[in-house]
Amino acid sequence: MTGVNQSQSVIPTVTQRVLLIIGGGIAAYKSLDLIRRLRERGATVRVVLTRAAQEFVTPLAAGALSNERVFTDLFDLDDEREIGHIRLARDTDLIIVAPATADLLAKMATGQANDLATAVLLATDKPVLAAPAMNPRMWSHPATRRNVRQLEADGIHFIGPNVGEMAERGEAGVGRMAEALEIAQAAAHLLGGPQSAPAGPLSGRHVVITSGPTHEPIDPVRYIANRSSGKQGHAIAAAAAAAGARVTLVSGPVTLADPPGVAVIKVETAAEMLAAVQTALPADIAIFAAAVADWRVTTSANQKIKKTKGSDVPTLTLAENPDILMSVAKRGPRRPALVIGFAAETEAVVPHAQKKRKEKSADWIVANDVSPASDTFGGDWNTVHLVTAEGVTSWPPQSKDDVARRLVEQAGAWLAAHQTEI
Ligand SMILES: Cc1cc2nc3c(=O)[nH]c(=O)nc-3n(C[C@H](O)[C@H](O)[C@H](O)COP(=O)(O)O)c2cc1C
Repeated sequence: MTGVNQSQSVIPTVTQRVLLIIGGGIAAYKSLDLIRRLRERGATVRVVLTRAAQEFVTPLAAGALSNERVFTDLFDLDDEREIGHIRLARDTDLIIVAPATADLLAKMATGQANDLATAVLLATDKPVLAAPAMNPRMWSHPATRRNVRQLEADGIHFIGPNVGEMAERGEAGVGRMAEALEIAQAAAHLLGGPQSAPAGPLSGRHVVITSGPTHEPIDPVRYIANRSSGKQGHAIAAAAAAAGARVTLVSGPVTLADPPGVAVIKVETAAEMLAAVQTALPADIAIFAAAVADWRVTTSANQKIKKTKGSDVPTLTLAENPDILMSVAKRGPRRPALVIGFAAETEAVVPHAQKKRKEKSADWIVANDVSPASDTFGGDWNTVHLVTAEGVTSWPPQSKDDVARRLVEQAGAWLAAHQTEI
Protein backbone atom coordinates (compact mmCIF):
# COMPACT_ATOMS: atom_id res chain seq x y z
CA MET A 1 0.00 0.00 0.00
CA THR A 2 1.18 3.48 -0.71
CA GLY A 3 0.06 6.90 0.44
CA VAL A 4 -0.58 5.99 4.05
CA ASN A 5 -2.83 8.57 5.59
CA GLN A 6 -1.33 10.08 8.71
CA SER A 7 -4.45 11.89 9.83
CA GLN A 8 -4.67 10.24 13.23
CA SER A 9 -4.84 12.78 15.99
CA VAL A 10 -2.96 10.61 18.49
CA ILE A 11 0.54 9.48 17.53
CA PRO A 12 1.30 6.73 20.01
CA THR A 13 4.75 6.89 21.49
CA VAL A 14 7.12 4.02 22.14
CA THR A 15 9.53 4.78 24.94
CA GLN A 16 10.92 1.30 25.23
CA ARG A 17 13.40 -1.08 23.66
CA VAL A 18 12.57 -2.80 20.42
CA LEU A 19 14.52 -5.60 18.79
CA LEU A 20 13.83 -5.55 15.06
CA ILE A 21 14.53 -8.78 13.18
CA ILE A 22 14.72 -8.14 9.44
CA GLY A 23 14.09 -11.19 7.24
CA GLY A 24 15.21 -11.78 3.68
CA GLY A 25 12.44 -10.33 1.54
CA ILE A 26 12.06 -7.44 -0.90
CA ALA A 27 10.14 -5.54 1.79
CA ALA A 28 13.33 -5.34 3.92
CA TYR A 29 13.90 -1.82 2.57
CA LYS A 30 10.68 -0.73 4.32
CA SER A 31 12.13 -1.93 7.62
CA LEU A 32 14.81 0.75 7.35
CA ASP A 33 12.00 3.29 7.42
CA LEU A 34 10.47 1.37 10.35
CA ILE A 35 13.69 1.94 12.34
CA ARG A 36 13.23 5.68 11.76
CA ARG A 37 9.53 5.59 12.69
CA LEU A 38 10.22 3.70 15.94
CA ARG A 39 13.05 6.03 16.92
CA GLU A 40 10.89 9.09 16.13
CA ARG A 41 8.53 7.76 18.79
CA GLY A 42 11.33 7.47 21.33
CA ALA A 43 12.21 3.76 21.06
CA THR A 44 15.70 2.35 21.23
CA VAL A 45 16.03 -0.01 18.27
CA ARG A 46 18.46 -2.89 17.99
CA VAL A 47 18.53 -4.73 14.68
CA VAL A 48 19.19 -8.37 13.79
CA LEU A 49 19.61 -9.11 10.07
CA THR A 50 19.20 -12.65 8.80
CA ARG A 51 21.78 -13.82 6.28
CA ALA A 52 19.20 -13.49 3.51
CA ALA A 53 18.21 -10.01 4.70
CA GLN A 54 21.78 -8.87 4.05
CA GLU A 55 21.15 -9.52 0.34
CA PHE A 56 18.52 -6.77 0.47
CA VAL A 57 19.77 -4.21 3.03
CA THR A 58 23.19 -3.69 4.56
CA PRO A 59 24.17 -3.80 8.24
CA LEU A 60 25.76 -0.38 7.59
CA ALA A 61 22.40 1.19 6.66
CA ALA A 62 20.58 -0.47 9.57
CA GLY A 63 23.37 0.59 11.96
CA ALA A 64 23.39 4.18 10.72
CA LEU A 65 19.62 4.47 11.12
CA SER A 66 19.40 2.75 14.50
CA ASN A 67 22.59 4.31 15.86
CA GLU A 68 23.28 0.91 17.43
CA ARG A 69 25.43 -2.05 16.57
CA VAL A 70 23.71 -4.47 14.17
CA PHE A 71 23.71 -8.20 14.93
CA THR A 72 23.98 -10.84 12.24
CA ASP A 73 25.78 -13.93 13.48
CA LEU A 74 24.90 -16.46 16.17
CA PHE A 75 28.52 -17.57 16.43
CA ASP A 76 30.11 -14.17 16.80
CA LEU A 77 32.19 -14.82 19.94
CA ASP A 78 32.42 -11.16 20.87
CA ASP A 79 28.67 -11.00 20.81
CA GLU A 80 28.34 -14.08 22.97
CA ARG A 81 30.70 -12.59 25.59
CA GLU A 82 29.19 -9.10 25.53
CA ILE A 83 25.58 -9.60 24.54
CA GLY A 84 24.77 -13.17 23.51
CA HIS A 85 21.57 -14.24 21.87
CA ILE A 86 19.88 -14.88 25.21
CA ARG A 87 20.50 -11.31 26.32
CA LEU A 88 19.39 -9.98 22.94
CA ALA A 89 16.16 -11.95 23.42
CA ARG A 90 15.57 -10.67 26.94
CA ASP A 91 16.98 -7.11 26.99
CA THR A 92 14.07 -5.79 25.00
CA ASP A 93 10.41 -4.96 25.53
CA LEU A 94 9.18 -6.11 22.14
CA ILE A 95 10.52 -8.08 19.20
CA ILE A 96 9.33 -7.11 15.73
CA VAL A 97 9.91 -9.47 12.79
CA ALA A 98 9.62 -7.43 9.58
CA PRO A 99 9.54 -8.68 6.96
CA ALA A 100 8.50 -12.00 8.44
CA THR A 101 9.34 -14.26 5.51
CA ALA A 102 7.53 -17.54 4.83
CA ASP A 103 10.78 -19.21 5.89
CA LEU A 104 10.99 -17.36 9.22
CA LEU A 105 7.32 -18.10 9.99
CA ALA A 106 7.93 -21.79 9.29
CA LYS A 107 10.99 -21.87 11.53
CA MET A 108 9.21 -19.99 14.30
CA ALA A 109 6.20 -22.31 14.10
CA THR A 110 8.41 -25.39 14.45
CA GLY A 111 10.77 -23.96 17.06
CA GLN A 112 13.94 -24.01 14.99
CA ALA A 113 16.95 -22.07 16.19
CA ASN A 114 19.70 -22.49 13.64
CA ASP A 115 20.65 -18.83 13.23
CA LEU A 116 20.71 -15.71 15.38
CA ALA A 117 17.18 -14.52 14.46
CA THR A 118 15.47 -17.84 15.17
CA ALA A 119 17.57 -18.54 18.29
CA VAL A 120 16.53 -15.15 19.69
CA LEU A 121 12.88 -15.80 18.83
CA LEU A 122 12.95 -19.16 20.59
CA ALA A 123 14.73 -17.77 23.65
CA THR A 124 12.53 -14.76 24.24
CA ASP A 125 9.82 -14.29 26.82
CA LYS A 126 8.81 -10.91 25.35
CA PRO A 127 5.89 -10.14 23.00
CA VAL A 128 6.60 -10.74 19.32
CA LEU A 129 4.95 -8.79 16.49
CA ALA A 130 5.31 -10.30 13.01
CA ALA A 131 4.76 -8.35 9.79
CA PRO A 132 4.57 -11.02 7.08
CA ALA A 133 5.56 -10.19 3.50
CA MET A 134 5.54 -12.64 0.66
CA ASN A 135 4.05 -13.57 -2.66
CA PRO A 136 0.26 -14.11 -2.32
CA ARG A 137 0.60 -17.76 -3.31
CA MET A 138 3.17 -18.30 -0.57
CA TRP A 139 0.86 -16.55 1.91
CA SER A 140 -2.18 -18.64 0.91
CA HIS A 141 -0.24 -21.92 0.77
CA PRO A 142 -1.64 -24.45 3.26
CA ALA A 143 1.79 -24.73 4.91
CA THR A 144 1.95 -20.99 5.62
CA ARG A 145 -1.70 -20.95 6.74
CA ARG A 146 -0.85 -23.79 9.17
CA ASN A 147 2.23 -21.97 10.45
CA VAL A 148 0.32 -18.71 11.00
CA ARG A 149 -2.46 -20.52 12.88
CA GLN A 150 0.16 -22.21 15.07
CA LEU A 151 1.95 -18.93 15.74
CA GLU A 152 -1.32 -17.17 16.61
CA ALA A 153 -2.07 -19.99 19.04
CA ASP A 154 1.44 -19.48 20.48
CA GLY A 155 0.59 -15.83 21.15
CA ILE A 156 2.51 -14.19 18.30
CA HIS A 157 0.89 -10.91 17.20
CA PHE A 158 0.44 -10.16 13.50
CA ILE A 159 0.15 -6.93 11.54
CA GLY A 160 -0.82 -7.35 7.90
CA PRO A 161 -0.08 -8.50 5.33
CA ASN A 162 -2.01 -6.02 3.24
CA VAL A 163 -3.56 -6.30 -0.15
CA GLY A 164 -1.75 -4.72 -3.07
CA GLU A 165 0.69 -4.99 -5.93
CA MET A 166 3.68 -7.26 -5.48
CA ALA A 167 7.25 -6.54 -6.51
CA GLU A 168 6.81 -9.20 -9.20
CA ARG A 169 5.20 -7.70 -12.28
CA GLY A 170 1.51 -8.41 -12.68
CA GLU A 171 1.19 -10.05 -9.26
CA ALA A 172 -1.33 -8.69 -6.78
CA GLY A 173 -3.16 -9.98 -3.75
CA VAL A 174 -2.63 -10.43 -0.02
CA GLY A 175 1.07 -10.45 0.81
CA ARG A 176 2.41 -6.89 0.94
CA MET A 177 4.10 -6.03 4.20
CA ALA A 178 2.20 -3.50 6.36
CA GLU A 179 3.58 0.02 6.03
CA ALA A 180 6.23 1.17 8.52
CA LEU A 181 3.75 3.57 10.12
CA GLU A 182 1.20 0.78 10.63
CA ILE A 183 3.82 -1.47 12.22
CA ALA A 184 5.04 1.35 14.48
CA GLN A 185 1.47 1.98 15.63
CA ALA A 186 0.85 -1.70 16.33
CA ALA A 187 4.12 -1.77 18.28
CA ALA A 188 3.10 1.27 20.32
CA HIS A 189 -0.21 -0.38 21.08
CA LEU A 190 1.44 -3.62 22.22
CA LEU A 191 3.90 -1.75 24.38
CA GLY A 192 1.14 0.39 25.84
CA GLY A 193 -0.81 -2.69 26.93
CA PRO A 194 -4.55 -3.02 27.38
CA GLN A 195 -4.61 -0.53 30.22
CA SER A 196 -3.76 2.21 27.70
CA ALA A 197 -7.36 2.33 26.42
CA PRO A 198 -8.63 5.73 27.52
CA ALA A 199 -11.57 5.95 29.91
CA GLY A 200 -14.56 7.52 28.22
CA PRO A 201 -18.29 7.33 27.57
CA LEU A 202 -17.88 4.02 25.70
CA SER A 203 -15.60 2.32 28.26
CA GLY A 204 -16.52 -1.34 28.56
CA ARG A 205 -18.46 -1.27 25.28
CA HIS A 206 -17.64 -3.23 22.14
CA VAL A 207 -18.13 -1.45 18.82
CA VAL A 208 -17.87 -3.25 15.47
CA ILE A 209 -17.26 -1.03 12.45
CA THR A 210 -16.86 -1.81 8.75
CA SER A 211 -14.92 0.49 6.47
CA GLY A 212 -13.62 0.87 2.93
CA PRO A 213 -14.67 -0.81 -0.30
CA THR A 214 -14.83 -4.50 -1.08
CA HIS A 215 -13.01 -6.06 -4.02
CA GLU A 216 -14.88 -8.74 -5.90
CA PRO A 217 -12.47 -10.79 -8.02
CA ILE A 218 -12.96 -11.30 -11.75
CA ASP A 219 -9.74 -13.30 -12.07
CA PRO A 220 -6.50 -13.38 -10.02
CA VAL A 221 -5.50 -9.88 -11.18
CA ARG A 222 -8.76 -8.02 -11.84
CA TYR A 223 -11.63 -7.09 -9.56
CA ILE A 224 -14.80 -5.00 -9.26
CA ALA A 225 -14.39 -2.19 -6.74
CA ASN A 226 -15.75 1.24 -5.85
CA ARG A 227 -14.31 4.62 -4.91
CA SER A 228 -14.63 4.31 -1.12
CA SER A 229 -11.40 5.36 0.63
CA GLY A 230 -12.33 4.10 4.12
CA LYS A 231 -11.59 7.54 5.62
CA GLN A 232 -15.02 7.87 7.24
CA GLY A 233 -15.14 4.34 8.68
CA HIS A 234 -11.56 4.53 9.96
CA ALA A 235 -12.30 7.94 11.54
CA ILE A 236 -15.31 6.41 13.35
CA ALA A 237 -13.12 3.56 14.61
CA ALA A 238 -10.54 6.05 15.92
CA ALA A 239 -13.28 8.16 17.58
CA ALA A 240 -14.88 5.10 19.22
CA ALA A 241 -11.47 3.96 20.54
CA ALA A 242 -10.79 7.48 21.84
CA ALA A 243 -14.18 7.30 23.62
CA GLY A 244 -12.92 4.21 25.48
CA ALA A 245 -14.61 1.46 23.45
CA ARG A 246 -13.07 -1.85 22.48
CA VAL A 247 -13.21 -1.50 18.73
CA THR A 248 -13.13 -4.15 16.01
CA LEU A 249 -12.67 -2.60 12.59
CA VAL A 250 -13.40 -4.86 9.63
CA SER A 251 -11.73 -3.14 6.73
CA GLY A 252 -11.80 -3.71 3.00
CA PRO A 253 -8.66 -2.87 0.99
CA VAL A 254 -7.65 0.71 1.85
CA THR A 255 -4.44 2.70 1.87
CA LEU A 256 -4.93 4.02 5.40
CA ALA A 257 -2.98 3.22 8.55
CA ASP A 258 -4.80 1.16 11.16
CA PRO A 259 -6.31 3.53 13.74
CA PRO A 260 -4.41 3.30 17.05
CA GLY A 261 -5.84 1.04 19.71
CA VAL A 262 -8.19 -0.73 17.31
CA ALA A 263 -8.28 -4.44 16.37
CA VAL A 264 -8.30 -4.49 12.58
CA ILE A 265 -9.50 -7.44 10.50
CA LYS A 266 -8.53 -7.01 6.85
CA VAL A 267 -10.80 -8.52 4.22
CA GLU A 268 -11.31 -8.24 0.50
CA THR A 269 -14.76 -9.44 -0.49
CA ALA A 270 -18.28 -8.87 0.83
CA ALA A 271 -18.52 -12.53 1.84
CA GLU A 272 -15.29 -12.23 3.86
CA MET A 273 -16.56 -8.99 5.44
CA LEU A 274 -19.80 -10.66 6.55
CA ALA A 275 -17.90 -13.62 8.02
CA ALA A 276 -15.52 -11.28 9.90
CA VAL A 277 -18.41 -9.22 11.28
CA GLN A 278 -20.25 -12.34 12.45
CA THR A 279 -17.08 -13.58 14.16
CA ALA A 280 -16.61 -10.19 15.85
CA LEU A 281 -20.13 -10.15 17.39
CA PRO A 282 -21.53 -9.74 20.01
CA ALA A 283 -21.24 -5.96 20.19
CA ASP A 284 -23.09 -3.06 21.75
CA ILE A 285 -22.94 -0.97 18.60
CA ALA A 286 -22.39 -1.95 14.95
CA ILE A 287 -21.64 0.77 12.42
CA PHE A 288 -21.56 -0.28 8.78
CA ALA A 289 -19.64 2.44 6.96
CA ALA A 290 -18.09 0.16 4.30
CA ALA A 291 -19.18 0.53 0.70
CA VAL A 292 -19.89 -3.14 0.15
CA ALA A 293 -20.20 -4.23 -3.47
CA ASP A 294 -23.80 -5.20 -4.22
CA TRP A 295 -22.70 -7.82 -6.73
CA ARG A 296 -19.88 -10.27 -7.25
CA VAL A 297 -18.82 -12.20 -10.32
CA THR A 298 -20.57 -15.58 -10.16
CA THR A 299 -17.47 -17.62 -10.85
CA SER A 300 -14.17 -15.74 -10.83
CA ALA A 301 -11.57 -17.31 -13.13
CA ASN A 302 -8.65 -19.22 -11.55
CA GLN A 303 -6.25 -17.92 -14.20
CA LYS A 304 -5.96 -14.47 -15.74
CA ILE A 305 -8.55 -14.14 -18.52
CA LYS A 306 -6.51 -13.65 -21.72
CA LYS A 307 -7.36 -11.16 -24.44
CA THR A 308 -7.08 -13.14 -27.66
CA LYS A 309 -7.36 -11.56 -31.07
CA GLY A 310 -10.68 -12.19 -32.77
CA SER A 311 -12.31 -13.80 -29.73
CA ASP A 312 -15.44 -12.46 -28.05
CA VAL A 313 -15.30 -9.92 -25.25
CA PRO A 314 -15.94 -11.89 -22.02
CA THR A 315 -19.35 -11.56 -20.38
CA LEU A 316 -19.40 -11.27 -16.61
CA THR A 317 -22.35 -12.88 -14.84
CA LEU A 318 -23.07 -11.22 -11.53
CA ALA A 319 -24.68 -12.59 -8.38
CA GLU A 320 -26.03 -10.58 -5.45
CA ASN A 321 -23.75 -10.26 -2.44
CA PRO A 322 -24.95 -10.90 1.11
CA ASP A 323 -26.49 -7.84 2.78
CA ILE A 324 -24.33 -7.35 5.87
CA LEU A 325 -26.40 -4.55 7.43
CA MET A 326 -29.66 -6.44 7.04
CA SER A 327 -28.32 -9.75 8.31
CA VAL A 328 -26.96 -8.13 11.49
CA ALA A 329 -29.89 -5.75 12.04
CA LYS A 330 -32.57 -8.42 11.93
CA ARG A 331 -33.94 -9.47 15.30
CA GLY A 332 -32.00 -12.10 17.21
CA PRO A 333 -29.99 -12.67 20.37
CA ARG A 334 -26.77 -11.42 18.75
CA ARG A 335 -28.26 -8.19 17.40
CA PRO A 336 -26.24 -5.22 18.71
CA ALA A 337 -28.30 -2.74 20.74
CA LEU A 338 -27.67 -0.02 18.17
CA VAL A 339 -27.21 -0.83 14.48
CA ILE A 340 -26.16 2.04 12.24
CA GLY A 341 -25.92 1.79 8.46
CA PHE A 342 -24.52 4.21 5.91
CA ALA A 343 -26.33 5.07 2.71
CA ALA A 344 -24.18 6.45 -0.08
CA GLU A 345 -26.54 8.00 -2.57
CA THR A 346 -26.17 10.17 -5.66
CA GLU A 347 -29.80 11.41 -5.73
CA ALA A 348 -32.84 11.66 -3.42
CA VAL A 349 -30.43 11.08 -0.55
CA VAL A 350 -32.84 11.32 2.39
CA PRO A 351 -35.84 9.44 0.92
CA HIS A 352 -33.55 6.60 -0.15
CA ALA A 353 -32.03 6.48 3.32
CA GLN A 354 -35.45 6.43 5.01
CA LYS A 355 -36.49 3.52 2.81
CA LYS A 356 -33.21 1.69 3.52
CA ARG A 357 -33.60 2.15 7.30
CA LYS A 358 -37.01 0.47 7.28
CA GLU A 359 -36.22 -2.28 4.77
CA LYS A 360 -33.04 -3.31 6.58
CA SER A 361 -34.28 -2.90 10.17
CA ALA A 362 -31.42 -0.52 10.97
CA ASP A 363 -31.84 1.88 13.90
CA TRP A 364 -30.07 4.78 12.27
CA ILE A 365 -28.89 5.50 8.76
CA VAL A 366 -26.18 8.04 8.06
CA ALA A 367 -26.98 9.23 4.57
CA ASN A 368 -24.42 11.00 2.47
CA ASP A 369 -24.30 12.42 -1.02
CA VAL A 370 -21.54 10.68 -2.97
CA SER A 371 -22.26 12.21 -6.38
CA PRO A 372 -19.01 13.24 -8.15
CA ALA A 373 -19.68 16.93 -7.36
CA SER A 374 -19.78 16.19 -3.60
CA ASP A 375 -16.13 15.03 -3.45
CA THR A 376 -17.16 12.71 -0.58
CA PHE A 377 -15.44 9.53 -1.81
CA GLY A 378 -11.76 9.99 -1.07
CA GLY A 379 -12.21 13.53 0.30
CA ASP A 380 -11.78 14.68 3.91
CA TRP A 381 -15.23 16.31 4.26
CA ASN A 382 -18.70 14.90 4.50
CA THR A 383 -22.23 16.29 4.50
CA VAL A 384 -24.55 13.82 6.20
CA HIS A 385 -28.14 13.43 7.32
CA LEU A 386 -28.88 11.27 10.35
CA VAL A 387 -32.06 9.33 9.70
CA THR A 388 -33.71 7.72 12.74
CA ALA A 389 -37.22 6.52 13.65
CA GLU A 390 -37.79 9.97 15.15
CA GLY A 391 -36.88 11.95 12.05
CA VAL A 392 -34.02 13.42 10.03
CA THR A 393 -31.25 15.70 11.26
CA SER A 394 -29.07 17.33 8.61
CA TRP A 395 -25.60 18.06 9.88
CA PRO A 396 -23.62 20.97 8.45
CA PRO A 397 -20.63 20.09 6.18
CA GLN A 398 -17.72 19.07 8.38
CA SER A 399 -14.58 16.97 8.35
CA LYS A 400 -14.96 13.19 8.42
CA ASP A 401 -13.18 13.24 11.81
CA ASP A 402 -15.87 15.61 13.16
CA VAL A 403 -18.68 13.50 11.69
CA ALA A 404 -17.08 10.49 13.39
CA ARG A 405 -16.78 12.18 16.79
CA ARG A 406 -20.37 13.47 16.65
CA LEU A 407 -21.76 10.09 15.61
CA VAL A 408 -19.86 8.28 18.36
CA GLU A 409 -21.00 10.87 20.91
CA GLN A 410 -24.65 10.41 19.91
CA ALA A 411 -24.37 6.63 19.86
CA GLY A 412 -22.81 6.70 23.35
CA ALA A 413 -25.60 8.95 24.63
CA TRP A 414 -28.24 6.65 23.12
CA LEU A 415 -26.66 3.62 24.73
CA ALA A 416 -26.44 5.34 28.12
CA ALA A 417 -30.10 6.40 27.86
CA HIS A 418 -31.17 2.87 27.02
CA GLN A 419 -28.92 1.28 29.67
CA THR A 420 -28.24 -1.79 27.56
CA GLU A 421 -25.55 -4.31 28.26
CA ILE A 422 -24.43 -7.22 26.10
C1 LIG B 1 14.65 -11.55 -4.93
C2 LIG B 1 14.06 -12.36 -3.81
C3 LIG B 1 13.00 -11.89 -3.12
C4 LIG B 1 12.41 -12.62 -2.08
N1 LIG B 1 11.33 -12.11 -1.42
C5 LIG B 1 10.75 -12.83 -0.45
C6 LIG B 1 9.62 -12.33 0.25
O1 LIG B 1 9.15 -11.21 0.01
N2 LIG B 1 9.05 -13.10 1.21
C7 LIG B 1 9.55 -14.33 1.52
O2 LIG B 1 8.96 -14.99 2.40
N3 LIG B 1 10.63 -14.82 0.90
C8 LIG B 1 11.24 -14.10 -0.07
N4 LIG B 1 12.34 -14.61 -0.70
C9 LIG B 1 12.89 -15.91 -0.30
C10 LIG B 1 13.72 -15.75 0.98
O3 LIG B 1 14.78 -14.82 0.78
C11 LIG B 1 14.29 -17.11 1.39
O4 LIG B 1 13.22 -17.96 1.77
C12 LIG B 1 15.28 -16.99 2.54
O5 LIG B 1 15.73 -18.27 2.88
C13 LIG B 1 14.68 -16.33 3.73
O6 LIG B 1 15.61 -16.32 4.78
P1 LIG B 1 15.26 -15.69 6.21
O7 LIG B 1 13.86 -16.07 6.51
O8 LIG B 1 16.24 -16.29 7.14
O9 LIG B 1 15.45 -14.22 6.12
C14 LIG B 1 12.95 -13.88 -1.74
C15 LIG B 1 14.06 -14.34 -2.42
C16 LIG B 1 14.62 -13.61 -3.44
C17 LIG B 1 15.82 -14.16 -4.16
